[in-house]
Amino acid sequence: MDYKSQIDTTKLPLHVAVIMDGNGRWAKQQGEQRIFGHHNGVSSVRETAEAAAELGIKYLTLYAFSTENWNRPKDEVDALMELLVHTIGNETPTLIKNGIKLDCIGNIDSLPKSCIRELNEAKEKTAHCDRMTMVLALSYSSKWEIIQAVKSIAEEVKSGAIDVDAIDEKLISSKLCTAKMPDPELMIRTSGEHRISNFLLWQLSYAEFYFTEKLWPDFRREDFYEAIYKYQNRERRFGKTSEQLAQ
Ligand code: FPP
Repeated sequence: MDYKSQIDTTKLPLHVAVIMDGNGRWAKQQGEQRIFGHHNGVSSVRETAEAAAELGIKYLTLYAFSTENWNRPKDEVDALMELLVHTIGNETPTLIKNGIKLDCIGNIDSLPKSCIRELNEAKEKTAHCDRMTMVLALSYSSKWEIIQAVKSIAEEVKSGAIDVDAIDEKLISSKLCTAKMPDPELMIRTSGEHRISNFLLWQLSYAEFYFTEKLWPDFRREDFYEAIYKYQNRERRFGKTSEQLAQ
């Protein structure tokens, strides 16, 4: 099926979040080391970002490295960091060509200096791009992010800057890494795993989840279009009934 032609471009999600999973298993299937899978995942990142920007999606957040990923063998962590540094540098012209601004969320200070440098450079070079923002979640976990938010609010209450009664959804959202973005309406996870893995727990409260068996290095434009098409055919009720929505 040609999913792209079936997509209603007036009803796109503003923000799509992706858990890019299955690189290790993909590499194993080829009889290769895990890092071979991560390297091959870069083409999927490129295709997904281009497809999303062309459709008119405004934010694409990719879970590239979680807080928990620091616990992987050192060789894999080092190779992933090196891949990130090279990819961000090499892909900046493609981002600019496609009008994609780069942003990142997570504990960025915990990344190697070379990675922080590349990220800052790419952010600066793409700052003028306004077709879509691609957000890399790096050294990110939702529980880490929520702890930072709670600490910041606690400090404000302690200093008397705000009253406890002023704590509401809006204030908490404003303290998260995603403060300037709308919440994702769609979360895609590849590789057949049905988990959220400490990713955007607050922000995904009302998102539609789309799971595919495809391993991330096999994920192509058509797969992204299929996810958008299927999202558009879901009924989003936000706690209401179907009858209420029909009115
Ligand atoms: C999860 O697969 C994937 C990662 C931890 C890394 C994702 C990184 C990339 C796709 C590389 C480049 C990305 C950017 C944005 C430049 P896994 O290793 O957990 O796979 P497994 O579950 O099969 O072991």
